[in-house]
Amino acid sequence: MIVTDSEKTISTLCSSWRAEGLGVGLVPTMGALHQGHLSLVKTAVACVDRVVVSIFVNPTQFAAGEDLDRYPRTLEQDCEQVEKAGASAVFTPAPVTVYPKGFSSEVRVSGITEGLCGVYRPGHFNGVTTVCSVLFGIVRPEVAVFGMKDAQQLAVVRRMVDDLRMGVEIVAAPIVRESDGVAMSSRNRYLSATERKQAALIHKGLKKAASLCRRGENSCAVLRQAFLQTVSSGSELRVQYAETVDPDTLLSVEAVEKTVLLAVAVFAGKTRLIDNVLIKPEV
Ligand code: PAJ
Repeated sequence: MIVTDSEKTISTLCSSWRAEGLGVGLVPTMGALHQGHLSLVKTAVACVDRVVVSIFVNPTQFAAGEDLDRYPRTLEQDCEQVEKAGASAVFTPAPVTVYPKGFSSEVRVSGITEGLCGVYRPGHFNGVTTVCSVLFGIVRPEVAVFGMKDAQQLAVVRRMVDDLRMGVEIVAAPIVRESDGVAMSSRNRYLSATERKQAALIHKGLKKAASLCRRGENSCAVLRQAFLQTVSSGSELRVQYAETVDPDTLLSVEAVEKTVLLAVAVFAGKTRLIDNVLIKPEV
């Protein structure tokens, strides 16, 4: 497996693969990799011949006061793991490679970036869509894999790729969870033992809402309430939002008539956790 921070090296390598008729896939990450990320790599390996994993803690998607400086960096371990998962290359550019002197562009998707996390993290998705555009431009993948854990990010990237005819197929990979249901996240390591224990209530609440729907409840207000009630027993938890939306448009939904996304952001102490569940109507 090749590990490089050079744009020239990775783009030449990807061009040579394409010239040989090999399909190239990209898994964009910020590193500190866990089984969730590795499942994306495995999904990509199953779809294409050569998989590039990018590891780049993208400064433009962090607001002042967020965790950019203390974001965990575990490059050596990350490379070992993605190699085992079947990746062919790791691209670890420096910030100046992604954003060289004179870089003046921004990719902004309107509408679906404005609700959910967009309310609380203004500018965040502009950073995500801009860096993804740069990475797509360098690697020119046929396929890029994103996790459903970041459901809004997935919908935003899909919108961008469709709108701008980027010619990249976006593949969604399911949420990977710890044994107690907590969605794997690089940020889980910030949690104290108590917070970590209470964080399990988030998935419990999401499951509660989904099971109510299976038993015939289709009012989103009721499902949302079931989530809020479950989480309220965690003294360290504070819900930032819990919303029922259409999974593609992210527009608010009042009744489960087709698949609905219940998306939540919850603070466990000072750590912000996001999670979601797709709720399907009873047929
Ligand atoms: P990062 O948080 O490192 O996540 C990289 C990818 O892994 C994303 O597509 C995310 O949805 C997926 N992922 C994270 N935890 C997961 C889990 N428990 N189960 C399944 N997938 C999971 O998301 C980003 O980085 C950045 O915004 C990025 C797209 C790389 C742009 O900078």
